[in-house]
Amino acid sequence: MTERIVQTIRTVPELRDAIVARRADGATVGFVPTMGALHSGHCALIERAASEHDVAVVSIFVNPTPFNQASDLEQYPRDEAADVKAAAAAGATICFTPSVEEIYPAGFSTRVQVRGPLTETLEGQERGVGHFDGMATVVAILLNAVGPDVAYFGAKDAQQALVVRRFVTDLRIPTEIVTAVTVRDRDGLALSSRNARLSAAGREQALAISAALQAAANAISDGSATSPEAASAAGVERLRAAGITPEYFAVTDPATLEPASQLSGRLLISCAATVDGVRLIDNLTVSANREAATANV
Ligand code: PAJ
Repeated sequence: MTERIVQTIRTVPELRDAIVARRADGATVGFVPTMGALHSGHCALIERAASEHDVAVVSIFVNPTPFNQASDLEQYPRDEAADVKAAAAAGATICFTPSVEEIYPAGFSTRVQVRGPLTETLEGQERGVGHFDGMATVVAILLNAVGPDVAYFGAKDAQQALVVRRFVTDLRIPTEIVTAVTVRDRDGLALSSRNARLSAAGREQALAISAALQAAANAISDGSATSPEAASAAGVERLRAAGITPEYFAVTDPATLEPASQLSGRLLISCAATVDGVRLIDNLTVSANREAATANV
């Protein structure tokens, strides 16, 4: 195995130089954007990028723009040394750790805005239609700075990955977007940097989210759910029984995020809920096999 030595780079010109040098040797480049506080979910993305490319770039940048409250931004966990170590162990070759001024220099005036159902529903509905603008803008900047062949995103943030795919297509950014499966704890809880803020009791209660999603997925795939509305109402009920009032528990088309009109084909079940003062999101993709099963009889 080739030995990988991680290089920490703080500016866009240095990053470009390092990548140009590697590309001159024929290297391909995989990229994983993160906000740090790396956990096994991030590391799985980095491992995949490293296994599929000669150069695996990881960005660690707490983007200030999507945070609605200054206190939330201040509270975001930061430990660069630990993150660089974790990224290196997962196979990263370059850690890009820019300052806020490096990404948003004086005079910065541009915004990437994806509009339409993709940003109006689910997270967009709860957090405002502009919720994804800050993410889209920084990811566009990072993709332009790194110029990767492939960029890796987690299915945990399914709507984010769809928004990225949309603007990458629209802006003709020559990077393939890969969405990788959600990494979960043994008991089903989707890994998230925010889980660290849950108390033991809150963590226990939060398990109802993945359990409700799994129950809905089972009911959809085994044909016991009668409609998308019924599947989502059962999910809400299940969460309420665990003391959780979800912001949404929705069954949608996995590509457009439009509400599913019937239980057929691939479906995305998504949920957002605040547990123990911590806002959590999770989702599952499922195939409704009822028609297929009937058609095969
Ligand atoms: P962050 O929350 O740090 O997540 C970085 C990447 O890790 C995202 O693609 C996210 O979907 C993925 N990820 C998080 N938890 C995961 C899990 N349990 N399993 C698999 N992948 C997981 O998302 C962001 O940062 C930011 O919006 C960013 C894209 C970096 C732009 O600022």
